[in-house]
Amino acid sequence: MPADLVIVANRLPVDRVTQPDGTQGWRPSPGGLVTAIEPVMRANDGTWIGWPGGPSEDADAGDLDPFEADGLQLVPIGLTAEEIELFYEGFSNATIWPIYHDLVAKPEFHREWWDSYVKVNEKYAAKAASVAAEGATVWVHDYQLQLVPQMLRELRPDLRIGFYLHIPFPPAELFQQLPWRRQLLEGLLGADLVGFQLPGGAANFVRLVRQRVGHKTHRDLVYLPDGRTVRAAAFPISIDAAGFEALASDEAVVARAAEIREALGSPRRIFLGIDRLDYTKGIYARLRAYAELIETGELDVEDAVFVQVAVPSREQVEQYRILRDEIDRLVGRINGDLGRIGRPAISYLHSSYPREEMAALYTAADVMVVTPYRDGMNLVAKEYVACRTGDDGALVLSEFAGAADELRQAWLVNPYDINGMKAALLEAYRADGKELTRRMKAMRRTIKKHDVAAWADAFMTELADVEHSTHAKSVR
Ligand code: G6P
Repeated sequence: MPADLVIVANRLPVDRVTQPDGTQGWRPSPGGLVTAIEPVMRANDGTWIGWPGGPSEDADAGDLDPFEADGLQLVPIGLTAEEIELFYEGFSNATIWPIYHDLVAKPEFHREWWDSYVKVNEKYAAKAASVAAEGATVWVHDYQLQLVPQMLRELRPDLRIGFYLHIPFPPAELFQQLPWRRQLLEGLLGADLVGFQLPGGAANFVRLVRQRVGHKTHRDLVYLPDGRTVRAAAFPISIDAAGFEALASDEAVVARAAEIREALGSPRRIFLGIDRLDYTKGIYARLRAYAELIETGELDVEDAVFVQVAVPSREQVEQYRILRDEIDRLVGRINGDLGRIGRPAISYLHSSYPREEMAALYTAADVMVVTPYRDGMNLVAKEYVACRTGDDGALVLSEFAGAADELRQAWLVNPYDINGMKAALLEAYRADGKELTRRMKAMRRTIKKHDVAAWADAFMTELADVEHSTHAKSVR
């Protein structure tokens, strides 16, 4: 059935997995994007187009059968092994990802990766064009699909098209390195509304469009020669705050949190980091800072433990493999040097966990440490706040996470400054109950007000208001 709302994202909200007995099953996909959009889909009865993970045999594997999972209408796009290598691991995650994250790692430029990016974007656009009802709204997501808006507009000028970038949009100085910069900008300009996490990203985009494509702009508007206008604005993403709060109040979760604390040897304070194992997340520097505090005796392994959960991610991409080895070595060395029997300095878990276990970890943790070098938003920081129903617990947060714009009462740190991080970790460790409550209360107010429903609402309302392409008059 043609859909009035179509979500297009690289991934479906579920990943196809083969069970040990050979049958097919599904599990939730990793990452913040899926976490954020799922509630929006449910509320709007939408259809979701995306990749179910893993390779498809057929070279034209665009055509897998649509299916329903957990009440969601899902339309899978198959990617071949070659497309996974060139489009997903290559152009998306080894070219765009590092450039858009401040060159934390060195990006690679390969023409065959770009060719595959174009081809796969065409596949998504064609699928969206075929499932969208007349005049439908199509919401395209994230850096893997930046060409889809323009491609889709060519196929279906009747559609209202929104695009949202979940990761940072870089300053012109970095973006300009991309040999395909103009094509990417033009791809995005196919949308009626282009959304970013922060106003800075939107401003970078508008400036680049003016400089590189030569269109007229005024504030957040771009005027195209055909009379169409495109709006670029910030919509900071959020979480299902009420859902997390309810989870944190659940008896089973509360019991599990107590069990976790006990299993860790009932330390006075539990520090916690939860990240995809990604070089943008600053895991290495954070663990070093913590280890130095133990070395100097400012913290003691009898009193404190650092639980670091690293969710496996993009394991075929070289930079991610290197990072995993580095973290393995570092954790081994820290625990070998500083741990005692039954008292590791760092309790390291390379695994992903369901929401209930995450909520139990957030509930158990006294100090949540989120220190990326660059992050679009970082939903983990917001999830922690939502779970602190007792208005306690400390958040140490990088200035370079989008979340820092809203969570001003966190202990804000520069993740490149190890001494600064050490000082913040100690302050958070030593803070008294009154101080913690003052800060947490304010952050909880923010999160409750700006939850994921408010985010989606703001974007959809704005998209509905943008003067629509086919009827647009020239505004110049
Ligand atoms: C981030 C990106 C998402 C991506 C997720 C997981 O949240 O913004 O687009 O899906 O990471 O990464 P993966 O490569 O496993 O999809």
